[in-house]
This record gives sequence, C-alpha cells and structure tokens, in this order.
Amino acid sequence: MKNLANISFSGERFWTHFLAFSNIGALSQGGVERPFGSKEDLEARLYLQNACRAIGLEVQVDPIGNLWAVMPGTEKLSMIAVGSHHDSVPQGGRFDGALGVLTSLETLHALKEGGYKNRHPLALVSFTAEEPNPFNLSTMGSRTVAGRLTKDSLIRSRDWNGRPLQEAILAVGGNLELVEQARKTSNDLGAFLELHIEQGKRLERAQKPLAVVTGICGIHRLDVTVIGEANHAGTTMLADRHDAFLAASEIALAFEKSLLDEHRDDLVGTIGRFEIFPNAANIIPGSARFIVEIRASTVELMHRIASLFQKKAQAIAKRRGVQFNADVILDQAPEEMDKFLIAALEDVSTKLQIPYDRLFSMAGHDATHMASFTKAGMLFVPSIDGKSHCQDEESRFEDIVLAGQVMVDAIIQMDQTLDNNS
Ligand code: GLV
Ligand code: MN
Ligand code: MN
Repeated sequence: MKNLANISFSGERFWTHFLAFSNIGALSQGGVERPFGSKEDLEARLYLQNACRAIGLEVQVDPIGNLWAVMPGTEKLSMIAVGSHHDSVPQGGRFDGALGVLTSLETLHALKEGGYKNRHPLALVSFTAEEPNPFNLSTMGSRTVAGRLTKDSLIRSRDWNGRPLQEAILAVGGNLELVEQARKTSNDLGAFLELHIEQGKRLERAQKPLAVVTGICGIHRLDVTVIGEANHAGTTMLADRHDAFLAASEIALAFEKSLLDEHRDDLVGTIGRFEIFPNAANIIPGSARFIVEIRASTVELMHRIASLFQKKAQAIAKRRGVQFNADVILDQAPEEMDKFLIAALEDVSTKLQIPYDRLFSMAGHDATHMASFTKAGMLFVPSIDGKSHCQDEESRFEDIVLAGQVMVDAIIQMDQTLDNNS
C-alpha cells in the first residue's frame, strides 16, 4: 500500500482490535448491542483505555464520560483529534462508530511506531452516547464538548423510567457537577477528523472506495403523545371510540405523505420508536407515544415539514376526539465540513491514487457538533448493500485500509500545515 510519509496504516493490527471489540455486546446474527450506560458500554471503554495505554497514550475521561487518549506534541499548539463513538443502536452492526474509533487507534499507533514527531498534541476521542438512548440525548458527548447542552438540562435529565442521567454518567467515569469542564473551544481543539461507514448505497453505486464528506444533514425530533380513551374492546361501539393507536397511525401516514409530496432526496423522516398503552389485546389503546424524526439539508425545509406535520396531526386529533402533544427533543442544524480539511483529504487521496466521491451525509455524526466550533472533516467507506443500523452492516477490509492510510497521511499534513497557536 502506497503511503506519503513512510508510515503505513496496519490493516492487520486494526482488524485484530476490530474482531476483539466486536465481541463486546456481540449478538447471534453478527451484530452488536452496546447501548449507552450498559455493561457492554463499560466493557468497551475499558478495552479502549487498555489499548490506548498499551501504545503509550495518556487516557483521560472528561466529565460527560468522553474518552480522550492523548499523544503530546512538540509545540504548544491546539489539539488535533480523531475518533467517533463506541456505543451502538439496539441490534446494531459492528462498524457504526467502532470503525472510526479503532481506525483512529491504529492511526496513532502507526504514527508512534513510525517515530513521527507531531507538533500538535494528537488525540483519539470516543464520544459518550452518540446514538439515541432513553435519556432522549443522542450525540450527548459531542454536544456537551460543543457547549450545546447546558449543565442544568443535563442534571435534570431522566430516562423513561425516571433514572437520573447523573447516575449513568457517574458509572462511566464522568460527573455532571463538573460538566462545564468538558467544553472545548477551537483553541483547545484545532481540528477533528472522523472516519465512518457511509450507511447508504451511493459509494457502491459510484464504485468508489472512499468519500470525502461535504456536510451533515440537520435532524429534528419530536416526542409525541396522543391521548385517547381506554375502554373495553368488545362492548365499545366503533362510533364511540377514541382509539389512540388508530389516531397515531393516521398521523403517521399523514407524516409520510408530507415527506413524499416534496419529491426530494435531501429530506427523509421516520417514526422508529412507537409505544401504545396499556398494550393489551382486549383494551382500546388509551394513549400512544412515539418519536417523529425529520432530516433535511436545510433548516428551512426541516422546520417547514415539522410545522406542516404538527398542523396535520392537530387536525386529525381534533376529528378523532383525541389530544395531540409534541415536544421538540432535538433541533440540530445541518453543518458544513471545513473547507481546509476537505481540501487536505482530497489532496491526500489524490496523491495516494485513491478514487473518491464527495458526499453530503444524511446520517448524523459527532463531527456535526465539532463543526459548530472548530474545523471538522469526515471520510466514509462504502457500506455493503447500503446496510446500517442493523446486524447485516458490513464494509470491506480493503476499503477500510485505504481510508485508514488517508487518515494517517491527512493527519500528518494537518499537523504540518495547521498552526493555530493555543
Ligand atoms: C446516527 O447514527 C444517526 O442516527 O444518523
Ligand atoms: Mn449510528
Ligand atoms: Mn455512527
């Protein structure tokens, strides 16, 4: 494999870690489950800390539980970080998040082994709770670093069973009382690079092994409650019912229609979490609770669809004699990746003769929050058959090694050309 500075990304070493890491929370069909706060989350953290210490990195856990493993630099400059997240969705795949963390580990290992004298401190970061979780706080670690979650709101957070977030954060080695110290500025963190699976089919269709990411979509989530009337499933005449499930179903289909009517590729929406109560065969559902998610390339489009949805839902609720309530639990604007980092990634890929595409991400990433205050860039490797957030998630070893080498050489280029003094 070609490299630009005589430092090679070792695919074999990466793969050994990847296989061992994939055993943490392993499921029977090849996937993993490592939700935030679980024993698998703790096990993954321990694995990463040991692996980082084994290559001589200084490991720190910040007050929101993010892991930072640092390789000090020779000059007093802001840090350059590489990383992603180690938690997973329920019944998820082995690559989402873990790929970025473990390619970062190998990148730093390769630089160290190659005797590279980094000017900037370099760090691996594995963020806390990137995926949605019972605290309704996805990308919790990166949002906190970006100053987008306040101490008050974090301390008030409880999961669906009333468990305080502080309990879960203490268990992963953080402490919400000190959470303001997790905040970073561009003086602390000069640049962030995240390698991730594409989670779609565009690279496969374009037959390219790599993408340089141009930007990340916005995400808007609503926690919706529909309150109807529980009653006997046999004796209540159809005309007398206020069935929360049927009302929610009609609302869900109206949501889909609002999306389809736009005929756009940069707009999607999902109801991926849905509960009815009391959830019994012989009781008319009294209430329903679900999460509506909208993703779009612009804030304007995202908000227009959100308000259209609420209007249609209110009208359906009124006609069916049920109550509709929606709380915004996430309103995240789209972000562009940094032009300097995009240019560095493209330059390195070209010099390594690796064909690449440019892609806008419709998946959310920790990089979106880093982009809100510092230079952020991302690389994607193809997902086989576009599968992700499921156990069938796969990427090719050869593609990962190419992307890993781009990461090594891009870090060197960034280290030599970025000089924002801290
Ligand atoms: C990240 O996993 C997302 O939901 O896009
Ligand atoms: Mn994910
Ligand atoms: Mn991810």
